[in-house]
Amino acid sequence: MLPASSSPIGVFDSGVGGLSVLRALLAALPHERFVYLADSGHAPYGERGDAYVSARTHAITDYLCEQHGIKALVVACNTATAAAIHEVRGSRPGLPLVGLEPAIKPALAVTKTGHIGVIGTRGTLTSAKFGKLMASFAGQAHFVVQPCDGLAHAIERSVALPVPAAAGPVSATETGALCERYLHAMGEFGTGPGQMDTLVLGCTHYIFVADELRALTGPAVQFIETGEPVARQTQRLLQTAGLLNTAPALAASASGLRPIRLLTTGPVEMLQAAAQRWLDLPTHWCESVSIPSAQEKWAASA
Ligand code: DGL
Repeated sequence: MLPASSSPIGVFDSGVGGLSVLRALLAALPHERFVYLADSGHAPYGERGDAYVSARTHAITDYLCEQHGIKALVVACNTATAAAIHEVRGSRPGLPLVGLEPAIKPALAVTKTGHIGVIGTRGTLTSAKFGKLMASFAGQAHFVVQPCDGLAHAIERSVALPVPAAAGPVSATETGALCERYLHAMGEFGTGPGQMDTLVLGCTHYIFVADELRALTGPAVQFIETGEPVARQTQRLLQTAGLLNTAPALAASASGLRPIRLLTTGPVEMLQAAAQRWLDLPTHWCESVSIPSAQEKWAASA
């Protein structure tokens, strides 16, 4: 069946990080239905290498198109975008597709000191795509690029932990200690000459440790993330394709369809905790699914 304007939009990430993008999509597109897929059973992607991330991206795209009839796909993961978006574009030419990359251009528009920090996964920051992006802005600012191994994974794990009651030192939590290690390695943040006054969050998980990062950079540093521009781009693509939904999403829920389905290949409790804590969504909207990649299917049948 061909997707219609009432079909859902697919959104996926290696885990719960893409919920930050879903939050922006929900705000910008209140009439749409969404299927969010957290590949937490295969996370993190950042240190796994392109072949693995590409196989997962293909398996998930096929699953969302074939099982959920999505009308558009938002790859809410910088690492998967860097590794595989060009291939998905080739294999699904008719599918409106939005990917993410670290927001270098918006950072250049706001920096006053001309010193910009960029944090992301090793996969994203060592990719050819990112190399090309940086080359296109060469000489326009001084960039400090820092891969944050283990941070996305620690954020995934921290979701299931209770929120600390009182504010302690940043390094008291695993996520805080990692933020401290990586930000200290980058140099000085602030608004003085030679200091980084802008920090690009090049991984969708990182907005969920914004408080820890803020405690380390100080209040004047601007954080740049991609949720809102991605939502605007999704809206533009749907409009161009004639697939924007103008009927209220409530009509969909009255007809028995939930406006948002939250799926995970990992522990459902983790997605439930994240969806409730960060998006205030009901836990019973979360379901667990299994999406083997082509290699895994092949190995199981051999
Ligand atoms: N959230 C993902 C990104 O934006 C990747 C995190 C990971 O799995 O390493 O790059």
